[in-house]
Amino acid sequence: MAVTGIFWRIGGLAILFLFFHVSNGDVSYSFPEELKRGSVIGNIAKDLGLEANRLSTRKARIDTDGGDKHYCDINLRTGDLTVAERIDREGLCGDKASCVLKQELMLENPLELHRISLHVQDINDNSPQFNKELIHIDIRESAVKGARFPIEEAHDADIGKYSIQTYKLQNNDNFILGVGTNSVELVLNKELDREVLTELDLILTALDGGSPPRSGTALIRVSVLDANDNVPVFSQAIYKASVPENSPQGTVVATVTATDADAGVNGDVTYEFGHMSEEVKSMFTIDHKTGEINLKSTVDFETASSFELRVTAKDGLGLTSYAKVIIDVTDVNDNPPIIYLKSLSNPIPEDVSPGTEVGIINVQDRDSENNRQVRCSIQQNVPFKLVPSIKNYYSLVTTGQLDRELVSDYNITISATDEGSPPLSSSKTVHLSVADVNDNPPAFEEQSYSAYVSENNKPGSTLCSVAARDPDWRQNGTVIYSLLPAEVNGAPVSSYVSVNGDTGVIHAVRSFDYEQFRSFKVHVMARDNGSPPLSSNVTVSVFVSDVNDNSPQILYPAPEGNSFMTELVPKAAHGGSLVSKVIAVDADSGQNAWLSYHIVKSTDPGLFTIGVHSGEIRTQRDVLESDSMKQNLIVSVKDNGQPSLSATCSMYLLISDNLAEVPELKDISYDEKNSKLTSYLIIALVSVSTFFLTFIIIILGVRFCRRRKPRLLFDGAVAIPSAYLPPNYADVDGTGTLRSTYNYDAYLTTGSRTSDFKFVSSYNDNTLPADQTLRKSPSDFADAFGDSDGSPEVGTCHVTTVRSVEPVIYSLSCRSSFY
Ligand SMILES: *[C@@H]1O[C@H](CO)[C@@H](O)[C@H](O)[C@H]1NC(C)=O
Ligand SMILES: *[C@@H]1O[C@H](CO)[C@@H](O)[C@H](O)[C@H]1NC(C)=O
Ligand SMILES: *[C@@H]1O[C@H](CO)[C@@H](O)[C@H](O)[C@H]1NC(C)=O
Repeated sequence: MAVTGIFWRIGGLAILFLFFHVSNGDVSYSFPEELKRGSVIGNIAKDLGLEANRLSTRKARIDTDGGDKHYCDINLRTGDLTVAERIDREGLCGDKASCVLKQELMLENPLELHRISLHVQDINDNSPQFNKELIHIDIRESAVKGARFPIEEAHDADIGKYSIQTYKLQNNDNFILGVGTNSVELVLNKELDREVLTELDLILTALDGGSPPRSGTALIRVSVLDANDNVPVFSQAIYKASVPENSPQGTVVATVTATDADAGVNGDVTYEFGHMSEEVKSMFTIDHKTGEINLKSTVDFETASSFELRVTAKDGLGLTSYAKVIIDVTDVNDNPPIIYLKSLSNPIPEDVSPGTEVGIINVQDRDSENNRQVRCSIQQNVPFKLVPSIKNYYSLVTTGQLDRELVSDYNITISATDEGSPPLSSSKTVHLSVADVNDNPPAFEEQSYSAYVSENNKPGSTLCSVAARDPDWRQNGTVIYSLLPAEVNGAPVSSYVSVNGDTGVIHAVRSFDYEQFRSFKVHVMARDNGSPPLSSNVTVSVFVSDVNDNSPQILYPAPEGNSFMTELVPKAAHGGSLVSKVIAVDADSGQNAWLSYHIVKSTDPGLFTIGVHSGEIRTQRDVLESDSMKQNLIVSVKDNGQPSLSATCSMYLLISDNLAEVPELKDISYDEKNSKLTSYLIIALVSVSTFFLTFIIIILGVRFCRRRKPRLLFDGAVAIPSAYLPPNYADVDGTGTLRSTYNYDAYLTTGSRTSDFKFVSSYNDNTLPADQTLRKSPSDFADAFGDSDGSPEVGTCHVTTVRSVEPVIYSLSCRSSFY
């Protein structure tokens, strides 16, 4: 009695029946299984036509073959056959279509044996049952629609219509049930997507044909297996990123991500660069796993400001997608400004006017925007500034007057700073020289120079030196000294001094004579070598100082040996009477001309004295009769120089009242007689007398013209006739000392035998041209001796010789009278 589900589905209704059949003494009963014990199956007595009341006597009993179980009993009173044992069809017959139990009824008296066939009818007492309650199925997501997946059938112990009739599947989107051989099948109705659903639980129910039907369920767990059905998908088609330039190696620039819905290897995305230039490839790396794009080397905005990278994402089985990464490099202020010197006028003359352009500067900065905005300046205190010009050009112009003598060169530091943050700066030093212009005349170090020299100096000796400085450059500052042409005492200055053109040392050209001039001035010019040259001049005053080089000159009496002058002393002269006076002069000055008089020898030492300073000879006592008539004195005159010089003279004194009383007069002065000489002498005396007369007349004339308070030449009472004064002498300092303005070596004498009005001119005169001599006037001298004007209370007299032909003519000019 195997009844398959299919049979039932096709066969339709199942009929449960009990039937009874008797043949050949056998009886058959049909009854459902699982009747209760004691349930009556049928009345066998009746069915076999037996008498019920005899059953017990005949010892009716149910027998079995062998050890078979007794499934039924017989009620001996009634003859009912009852269920003796639980009868489970499935247990006894399995899935056999018919289940017949054989029992036997045995009767005695007479022995009878009847076979009893018990047909056990099935009832729906079993539910369908799946082998496993949980059924795992793995289905690849790539499975196509219609694919079938068999599932083991459920089992129902019942047979026939009580066996499994139908299956039901839980409602779902993907599967329907199908029928397969010996199996139920899941049929893919809609394709699976692992990416949507990875696992699906379905309840499968099996139903039998009972009424109500019994059912059994199983859980089908469908696992969706992945298929590489998804390409990786980038989160953006184009990535944009920026990175500051100079970022260190390894900086993350951007991260690309692509997702792949697949699982496992199919969903493992790896990243790579797509086609790019080698250069770009060398700058970036991409992490294959994470998609992080890093810097491989530093990027420089100034080289490349943006990059376009191609990135591919690939899953395990090679599905690939593409994206772009655009990387902008942002500028960092990493380039300092660069200063270019485009032109420079070097050197520049110091006389350029303020505002002159001397150079052009260009500034460049490779950065961008603010980072390339550059400011230029000069921080130092220099007379230059930068004037912005077009674009990044600046003019370097002067702001003030330049002076090479103050600052000869400039190191101008130009600094440029951009406006980045932090700002960068650089600087450049421009060296600028200032060229010389001859704008400084030589300047003497002193306002004036004075040179002091003792007279009688050696020609060629150094007087002094002048120095002038010229701060200009080279020849513009080279100083050359020269004398300005002028005249000194009527002679060109060059005959007095010379100047060394290079050193400024002034030399005497000749020997100076204090007695001739005490000072003079020369003008020295310093000139530079520029073109045109500049010059300045300075005054050099040369002062000649006195040396005691002149011995006193005794004017009266004539020097010893040549004098025949005799003074008469009255016999009645009392003590203290002025007898005579020694007159001496010294051409020197000061101490050198301060004279003192001494009697070094006398006939009668007690009779006469001489004034030490006045030279006056006086009697010391009254003259006595007994005194010798002829008195002889030798007087020495000394000056006060160091060493002092002296001169001596003899004075002859006659104590007499009458010259005629002296017959031996001639003997006093003449040792030899010579008539010829005498006659010469007479002529000379006449000439001298004539001269003196003329002289006195002139003096008187002058006195008349300029009557002034008379001054005494000597402190004594006796006035010495000016006739005794030699030419060229003047009382200069009021000491009674006369001073010569010209040298002479001979002058008037009274006792000379050989009449010699010899006039030897000084060497000064030799240098004077004849025509200049005539022009010489007292005022010229006054100019030459400006200093001597400084003492106005002292009368000064200059005597000028004007020499043409013999005889000598003296012209005299007086500032004050002698008397
Ligand atoms: C300018 O610089 C040069 C070279 O460095 C140096 O010899 C010179 O003395 C400097 N001049 C000034 C005025 O600083
Ligand atoms: C001297 O100055 C003149 C201008 O006065 C100039 O032309 C010349 O170059 C200067 N000489 C030197 C050596 O600087
Ligand atoms: C000498 O210098 C003065 C001023 O210092 C000037 O007046 C005079 O002209 C100059 N003389 C010469 C010859 O240069």
